[in-house]
Amino acid sequence: MELVHKISEMQALASAWRAAGLSVGLVPTMGSLHEGHMSLVRKSAEENDRTVVSVFVNPIQFGANEDFDRYPRDLSRDLSLCGRAGADAVFNPSAAEMYPEGFCSRVEMSVLTENLCGKTRPAHFRGVCTVVLKLFLAALPDRAYFGQKDAQQLAVVRRMARDFNMRIEVVGAPIVREADGLAMSSRNAYLTAAERAAAPCLFRALSGGAELCRRGVVEARGIERRVREILSETPLARVDYVEVVDAETMRPLETVAGPALCAAAVYIGETRLIDNIALEARAGH
Ligand code: PAJ
Repeated sequence: MELVHKISEMQALASAWRAAGLSVGLVPTMGSLHEGHMSLVRKSAEENDRTVVSVFVNPIQFGANEDFDRYPRDLSRDLSLCGRAGADAVFNPSAAEMYPEGFCSRVEMSVLTENLCGKTRPAHFRGVCTVVLKLFLAALPDRAYFGQKDAQQLAVVRRMARDFNMRIEVVGAPIVREADGLAMSSRNAYLTAAERAAAPCLFRALSGGAELCRRGVVEARGIERRVREILSETPLARVDYVEVVDAETMRPLETVAGPALCAAAVYIGETRLIDNIALEARAGH
């Protein structure tokens, strides 16, 4: 497995693969890899001749008072995990390599970024789209892999690929969870023991909302209310948002009629966790 730091070297490597007729899969990450990331790496390795994992904590997607400085970093551990999961290269550029002095372009997206995390984190998706575009142009993938855990990010990247006619298939993959339901996340490392014990309330609450929908409640407000009610039983949890949205456009829904998600962001102590669940309305509604 190769470790690549320079964009020009990543482009040369990917170009050589493509010239040899090999397909390339890319898994963009911010490192501190866990089983959620590794499921994407393994899927890419299964579906492509070559797999690149990018490890880059992207400064421009963090807000001024967010956790960029203390975001967990462990490259040597990440490298051994990637090697074992079948990656062919890890792309680990420096911030100066990605954003040299004078860098002043951004990818701007409207509509899809106006609710959910886009509302609480105003510059976040501008930073995500900009870095993902740069990663795509460095690793030149045929397919790029994203987790449904960040459902809005997946929708935004899909939209960007479509809007700019990129010849890249954006592939989504299921949320990987701990045994108690907590969605895996690099940020779970911030939780104290008491917070970690409280954190499964997020999935429990979303599951309660999904259960209500299965039983025939299709009004978004009713489902959201149920999720908030369950969350309110956990004193350590403070709701950022709970929203029922269209599974593709991420726009808020009044009523669940087709593919929909209930998405939530919750502070457990100081740590902001996000998760979502698919809603299936009972046939006949
Ligand atoms: P990061 O949070 O490291 O996540 C990298 C990828 O792993 C994302 O596509 C995310 O959805 C996926 N992922 C994280 N936890 C998961 C879980 N429990 N189950 C399944 N997939 C999971 O998302 C980012 O980094 C960044 O925004 C990035 C796209 C790399 C741009 O900087």
